Order: sequence, then structure tokens, then C-alpha cells
Amino acid sequence: MKILITGGLGYIGSHVTVLLLQKGYEVVSVDNLDNSSIDVLEGIEAITGKRPFFEALDVRDENQMTNLFDKHPNIDGVIHFAAYKAVGESVEKPLEYYENNVSGLVQVLKPVTRKAIPFIFSSSCTVYGQADKMPIDEDIPLKKAFSPYGNTKQIGEQIIADCCKAYQGFNAILLRYFNPIGAHSSAKIGEFPQGIPQNLIPFLTQTVIGKRETLKIFGSDYNTPDGTCIRDYIHVMDLAQAHIESLDYLIKSNNSEACEVYNVGTGKGVSVMEIVQTFEKVTGEKVHFEISKPRTGDVITAFADPKKINNRIGWKAQYSLEDSLMSAWNWEKQLKIL
Ligand code: NAD
Ligand code: WQD
Repeated sequence: MKILITGGLGYIGSHVTVLLLQKGYEVVSVDNLDNSSIDVLEGIEAITGKRPFFEALDVRDENQMTNLFDKHPNIDGVIHFAAYKAVGESVEKPLEYYENNVSGLVQVLKPVTRKAIPFIFSSSCTVYGQADKMPIDEDIPLKKAFSPYGNTKQIGEQIIADCCKAYQGFNAILLRYFNPIGAHSSAKIGEFPQGIPQNLIPFLTQTVIGKRETLKIFGSDYNTPDGTCIRDYIHVMDLAQAHIESLDYLIKSNNSEACEVYNVGTGKGVSVMEIVQTFEKVTGEKVHFEISKPRTGDVITAFADPKKINNRIGWKAQYSLEDSLMSAWNWEKQLKIL
């Protein structure tokens, strides 16, 4: 089976590529290298002994996309990762986010809907905003998004749902990821944050390795057991596995719902302070941190109810938080060597 991955050299796309290749799928990977490096291909090959077919292209370019589908007429599934993902940056550069995340999606959907190819979309728990109840299931009404980035995910979901209704035979799954963290156990692929990391785990590992002075914990007076925010941190390899199981399900199922949405999370809420403590315990390293003022726009608590994906698709998170943090630390340590 041949799977097209857009954004295939990025953080999540590279981990999905590894699993697909190991399971014997053929992978066609495209990426414009905006937020990744061609060297990721070496990491993928070092782990799997295989290389995906790779083309450096921009999914917004209709001609390039048409040529790609002409070159690979028998694509059995598409996983669409290519997008910008920095929440803060999206507030400063909304048009770039709408252009890449929305127009890019539309360009990918043109050939995909024409050929009715099963389609998996990278959505995000950001679409829920501050949900009124925990854990968050897929049926709670979506709130207004906090950022242009969040808007692009809500709009993307709506576009795909409309396409599923309009184009006979076109089915899709929207995966709402909670907080992906960690790296492949080989530490040959992982996350490359550009500039100062905005996300907790890369900032934490960069602090411990000495690239940053102090981890700021954004707020300690929230209405949570230890006063710090709570999230659902999911190992990137678990997330990768969720894509493969979702795709298999979509390809095999003759589903009548056409557009299905699933949370991808562990179901466990973990506080920022618990992250620091667990990291210190598993790595034996000290995290230099200080309590800082809350970050604007942060939701207090967000963790998934993953029952729908557990029960319908059969996927369940396997890795522990300890595994996730250890793999993030191993990745950071080898980055220092590079
Ligand atoms: P990433 O930036 O590491 O990967 C995205 C890849 O897409 C990059 O390699 C980038 O170069 C490429 N790309 C961007 N625009 C492109 C274009 N127009 N044409 C071709 N390639 C393009 O990000 P990631 O963390 O792997 O995220 C993948 C997807 O998952 C994104 O859609 C993101 O919004 C979504 N998501 C990520 C998270 C997270 O915390 N990492 C959480 C929820 C959802
Ligand atoms: C986690 C917790 C911070 C950094 C973001 C996006 C979301 C999704 C996942 C794409 C929060 C705290 C963080 C730091 C801290 N991405 N923190 N000090 O905000 O849950 O979600 O990534 O779709 O859309 O918004 O993740 O890693 O930024 O923060 O105390 O230096 O860590 O306040 O409680 P977040 P995060």
C-alpha cells in the first residue's frame, strides 16, 4: 500500500513515516523544508533501513501537486501534516497561517477528493478552547478558537466535513491531538524547534542541557491540585501508531459517517509541576525553574476522553510519561553532539 505524507520531514510526519516503512507500506513524502531539514531522511533510513520516495515541494503549488499525483497514480491514503503550528506566531502573521494551513489544505484536497482517497487530517485539541467539562470528548461543542492557528484547525475540519458530504466516496478522519512529546527511542529523529521553544518539553530539555537559563512555569495559582496547568501529554510514537490504525480503519471500513473525528490522547491529566518532577526522577537531572506569571491565552486544564478511538479503532496509548520524557531527553542530548 502506498501512502502520501505531506509535511513528512516534520516532527510528527517523520515518526509516522518510520512506523509505516517498518510495517511495509510504501511512503511518498513531500515537504517544503520550511520547518524541517533534509537530514531527517538520514535519520529515517538509519532506523528503518529504507528511504521514502521524497520530493521537496510546497503543497500550495497546484501544478506540483498535480504532477505528484500523475507520478503516483495509485496512492491508497493521504496523511496531511503540512502546516504552520506556532500559536503565538499565528497572532502576528495571521495571513501566512490562513494561507498555508487553509489554502494548503484546499490544494491537497483537490486531487484527493477527485480520486476519493482516504484522508487523515492533523487537527488539535486547540479546537476545544477551555472546555467546560473534563475529560474532553468529541461531542462537546467547540468554543471560539483562541488564535488564528486554532481557527485554521476549526476551518480545516469544516472544509473536510463539507467535502465528505459533497464528494461521493470521499472519507476522512480528523485526529485531534492533545500534547505530542518525546522522540523515537533511537534518538535519530525528534522535534527541531525553531528559535526559542514555545512548548514546555523542548524548553525544559534545552534548559537542562544548558541552552536556556531557567524554565519559567507559567502560573502556579490556578484552580488545580498543585496550582499549575494540566495537559494530556502523548508520546509521539503512540500518536504515530494512532495514524496508522486510523488509516487502516478508514481504508477497510465502508463507513457511512464519512467524516469521523477522534481525540488522540492518553486520558491522563498531568500538571506542569508533575512534568518537572517526573523528568527529574527519570533522568536524574535537576530542572532549574522559577514560577512566572500566567501565559496569556493558556487554558487551565485540558485532557482527552480517548474512549471513542479506543473502542472504535482499537488504538490506545502504550507509552508512559516516563518513556516520553526519557526519549525527549535522549533526543536533546544527541542534538548537542550534532
Ligand atoms: P512540524 O512543523 O514539525 O511539521 C510540519 C512540516 O510541514 C514541516 O516539516 C514543514 O516544513 C512542512 N510544511 C509546512 N508547510 C508546508 C507546505 N506548504 N508544503 C509542504 N510542506 C510544508 O509540525 P508537527 O509538530 O509535525 O505538526 C504536524 C501537524 O500536526 C501540523 O498540521 C500541526 O498543526 C499539527 N499538530 C501539531 C501538534 C504539536 O504539538 N506538534 C499538536 C496538534 C496538531
Ligand atoms: C504546556 C503547558 C504552559 C512552556 C500548544 C498549542 C496547541 C497544541 C499543543 C498544536 C502549559 C506550560 C509551557 C513554558 C510553561 N499544538 N508551559 N513554561 O499550550 O498546551 O498547547 O501545543 O496544535 O495548539 O497551543 O502546550 O507545551 O506550550 O504548554 O509553564 O516555557 O506548559 O503554560 O500549561 P499547550 P505547551
